[in-house]
Amino acid sequence: MSVDRVLIAPSILAADFTKLGDEIGRVEEAGADMIHVDVMDGHFVPNITLGPVVVEAVRRATTLPIDVHLMIADPKAYVPRFIDAGADYVVFHREACNDVEPVIDEVRRRGAKVGLAVNPPNPATWIEPYLTDIDMALVMTVNPGFSGQAFLENVMPKLEVIAGWKEERGLAFMIEVDGGIGPGNVGTVVRRGGEVIVAASAIFGADDPGRALGAIRRAAEMARG
Ligand code: DX5
Ligand code: ZN
Repeated sequence: MSVDRVLIAPSILAADFTKLGDEIGRVEEAGADMIHVDVMDGHFVPNITLGPVVVEAVRRATTLPIDVHLMIADPKAYVPRFIDAGADYVVFHREACNDVEPVIDEVRRRGAKVGLAVNPPNPATWIEPYLTDIDMALVMTVNPGFSGQAFLENVMPKLEVIAGWKEERGLAFMIEVDGGIGPGNVGTVVRRGGEVIVAASAIFGADDPGRALGAIRRAAEMARG
């Protein structure tokens, strides 16, 4: 039950915020499948990025689905604001809450799709109980906090485990992978089961973001055969 094709989700974290609408337009034109928005609060991660007002601006700039990645403590408290701002997917971290179900319910009740993320040091079993209830599992391949970090290859066995469960159990959730991905390693990620590929610096850090996105897509398609 894997996706028909690999989806590419450029993260605006590495975009030029003085011309965010143009940056989004470029990747949309180049075939981006969704726009990934990294929200950091300075508590859950040692960095602060952006909030609902920027999601609301992204909403006005594109018709693509907006994938909001909450790297914040107490995600449930902020779910309504991000959905009101235009989030189509709200992804939160297993590490950020003891009670996962109420957050899943809150996202669904307000009409968005829900994703659950797991950090590099933590095992697949941390998200396993929720795989029947979510639309997307996010496997982090960097420790969250910054774009431009090196890809952690040692996360690949965990990705394979999650992809194996999805296959064996006939589950519908998509597998998103985020951190340090570019044309050179997207093939590895896709072969291990990655279906939604997030990339910030490899796309927006390139001279031509549209061309960089194309290179990632071609490498991903080649890996799928
Ligand atoms: C990391 C964020 C990522 C990040 C990816 O904390 O969740 O989405 O922006 O950046 P790159 O692709 O540059 O590793
Ligand atoms: Zn992210």
